Amino acid sequence: MSRILTGIQSSNIPHLGNILGAVQPAVQLSHDKANHAIYFIADLHSLTSQRDAAARRESVHAVAATWLAFGLDTQRNILFRQSSVPEVCELTWYLSCFMSFQRLQLAHSFKDKSENGADVNTGLFTYPVLMAADILLYDTNVVPVGKDQKQHIEFTRDLAERINHYYQKEIFVVPEHRIDEEVMVVPGTDGRKMSKSYNNFINIFLPEKELKKVVMSIETDSTPLEAPKDPDTNNVFAIYRLLATPEQTADMRSKFLAGNYGYGHAKTALFELILETYHTQREAYHNFMNDRSLLESELKKGENKAREIALPVLGRVREVMGF
Ligand code: ADP
Ligand code: TRP
Repeated sequence: MSRILTGIQSSNIPHLGNILGAVQPAVQLSHDKANHAIYFIADLHSLTSQRDAAARRESVHAVAATWLAFGLDTQRNILFRQSSVPEVCELTWYLSCFMSFQRLQLAHSFKDKSENGADVNTGLFTYPVLMAADILLYDTNVVPVGKDQKQHIEFTRDLAERINHYYQKEIFVVPEHRIDEEVMVVPGTDGRKMSKSYNNFINIFLPEKELKKVVMSIETDSTPLEAPKDPDTNNVFAIYRLLATPEQTADMRSKFLAGNYGYGHAKTALFELILETYHTQREAYHNFMNDRSLLESELKKGENKAREIALPVLGRVREVMGF
């Protein structure tokens, strides 16, 4: 049995990029009986950039509702809120005393922001150590993440190996990362990578009218309606093909090439495809968001199971370090 763990930050409602790139593949992995999945909402990490309490609570619920709406089975797997097992902060301290300061200064997550002159708080600086604690606290075997997180997993492996070696004991499981090189990059409404930072995202849970407005706002060029269009250079087609069947994709491609098919037509088709594809998940998401006590009880169930795994691991660390 392989223990798979990953976290999603709670800084917004998950968008189509998060769903296609992270949530759906992770739920798929959790269906494999050879895996045991622990997925959590990284609300402690979100404090490095989000200080508003109400927004954080709302976003924790939105992320939880998304996992559940996409079919994560919480009977067999674990879904929990990172901060509900605060022992992770204790482990962060232990790990930070083994983490090289110079090495941490080389973390991309910190370097990019500090070089751009952003307000860099110490939490952002030690972010990778908290992430290492997330992983090591649960005896994780495999961490599925995007390419941008690879360095953090390397830090985690080094910490685990260094501490195991120092105390001459297998205190930590040394985790592997799993980076899907094929992972799709979902383009946003402006053609750049879909991201909450660029404000170019599609929130599939919006009410129909608002969702339609967002889809209609996808940037396109001004080729006239009659003219044939190159499907491979337009944003609408780029998003459509990620959701469509091969037949639907081929059909839209030939319509674009034939001419007399406008971007407006394609946007309407995309809007309808989103509604159709995510009909069940949209409904389930809103059911969860309208029943906060159900959401909280799901998170509580996960917290209890997570703590059962975490405490013995933390016990090993305290023991070996003399606490
Ligand atoms: P954002 O860029 O909106 O801040 P995050 O960095 O919080 O998103 O990403 C959360 C997860 O979603 C990560 O696993 C990331 O790889 C995935 N993800 C984010 N945006 C996209 C995208 N446009 N296409 C595919 N996957 C994405
Ligand atoms: N840093 C990750 C991200 O921004 C989120 C995260 C926090 C995480 N802790 C984790 C991912 C532990 C994997 C394992 O995407």
